[in-house]
Amino acid sequence: MTTYDQLRIQLPTAPRTWLITGVAGFIGCNLLETLLKLDQHVIGLDNFATGHRHNLDQIQQAVTPAQWAHFRMIVGDICHLDDCRAACVGVDYVLHQAALGSVPRSLEDPIATNAANITGFLNMLVAARDARVKRFVYAASSSTYGDHPGLPKVEDAIGKPLSPYAVTKLVNEQYADVFARAYGFKTIGLRYFNIFGARQDPNGAYAAVVPKWTAEMIFNQALWINGDGETSRDFCYIANTVQANLLAATATHPDATNQVYNVAVGERTTLNELCEAIRSALAPRFPHLADFKPNYQDFRAGDVRHSLADISKAKTLLGYEPTHRIGEGLIEAMDWYVANLGKIPPSPPFSKGGDEESPSLKKGVGGFMNAPPVLLLALAAITLALTSSAVSLFANREPRVLRLVATPLLGLSGVAALAAGLSAFDFAQQCRNDAAVRVAVAAVAHSRGRTVWVSIAADWFSHQRSRDLRASIRPRFRARARFTDCAGRI
Ligand SMILES: NC(=O)c1ccc[n+]([C@@H]2O[C@H](COP(=O)([O-])OP(=O)(O)OC[C@H]3O[C@@H](n4cnc5c(N)ncnc54)[C@H](O)[C@@H]3O)[C@@H](O)[C@H]2O)c1
Repeated sequence: MTTYDQLRIQLPTAPRTWLITGVAGFIGCNLLETLLKLDQHVIGLDNFATGHRHNLDQIQQAVTPAQWAHFRMIVGDICHLDDCRAACVGVDYVLHQAALGSVPRSLEDPIATNAANITGFLNMLVAARDARVKRFVYAASSSTYGDHPGLPKVEDAIGKPLSPYAVTKLVNEQYADVFARAYGFKTIGLRYFNIFGARQDPNGAYAAVVPKWTAEMIFNQALWINGDGETSRDFCYIANTVQANLLAATATHPDATNQVYNVAVGERTTLNELCEAIRSALAPRFPHLADFKPNYQDFRAGDVRHSLADISKAKTLLGYEPTHRIGEGLIEAMDWYVANLGKIPPSPPFSKGGDEESPSLKKGVGGFMNAPPVLLLALAAITLALTSSAVSLFANREPRVLRLVATPLLGLSGVAALAAGLSAFDFAQQCRNDAAVRVAVAAVAHSRGRTVWVSIAADWFSHQRSRDLRASIRPRFRARARFTDCAGRI
């Protein structure tokens, strides 16, 4: 029996509270599924930057209602220390996954990557330390090996980072090490090598290669390999990654903590081999793949040529034993993609263009636009805004009306707009369309701002106007009063 087998028997007998950051993402939601199935209590933190509600929906369907009741979701941002503190209350183990992944994304927008991956990471470290969390396990990366030529990669021998993303992951390790030395805080970094499996996002400019190619083959789209296809990686199935996290959190070996570990299989696969493995796994179900051929384009900036892990340290100190080699993982992953790909709406949250829009994206956007509650509320907001404007015009003759009627109406229109935005947000999330979610969030923020500013402006305006009008009307009233007075006397 492996250490992991023993752990899975032991955990349900003494449930712990786990915090998974990035819980709506690929690795986070798979960790959630395993922990809930082991009857653990889980808190999830995510801002849905690249994660999806539909990942959480799938986990809810995969576990019992009683197990799902042990999950508490916090929608929050690791860049906000308060969110991190709120999430860490009462937590035994942190599995910190939240980050902006992808080397190309970091080359395009290093500031966003830095904020989530370094500021967010530091916030989580501080919050977890202050909450006296037992252990802080975090997602490190094989990109930390940078330009070091050695193969296989051994934890102690790293080179210079080749991308902003790699810099952030290296800094994570350095911060974790300093927190261990300075505060006695127990941390473990897991250097993931290309992880793949169910619920990994196939969409967007920064999609990982396995789900992206799987989708392209299933939908018979052009598939591009960067370089000559002889670039190699140590592809690691998600089940192995989940195992490494649970073992890292609970490892009892005295030297296990304040370390970083490679999480991989220890086998190298070229991109050409991967492409052929996916094709042959899918071919029996998709006859058009019988003579499917990839295309080749330039090498991609920031990519290392070869990657292969030495996993002996994780085996020795954590008891890690990968259960799936790449072929076994691909078979399980393909089953999931074939069953689910048509249901996953494309989601290009940070896409800078260049992605082909597929039919399901149009479906998602269409559904959002047709949302009846959104339209009704938006209509209410427009009607109220128009009514209040009409009242404002009328109020030129009678200033008090403006203050008494127009201001509350404007306020109400703002509230209706806010409700419309919130409703759109909810609906967009149900539609699983991140672009729509973003639009709705912007609408909510905008309407909130408008409500306040419009109310203040209307109030000030009515005050000014009524003062001015009073000032201009008063002499006429006085004149008329004098005239009436005189007329009365005559
Ligand atoms: N997938 C891989 O092959 C791989 C390889 C090396 C390292 N990693 C690391 O593993 C971790 C998880 O990767 P993944 O593949 O599941 O990516 P993912 O994009 O699917 O998941 C990341 C999650 O973090 C969330 N997130 C991002 N910024 C956030 C913020 N500011 N506040 C709160 N939540 C935020 C996202 O919404 C998403 O749900 C990341 O740290 C990544 O860098 C992954």
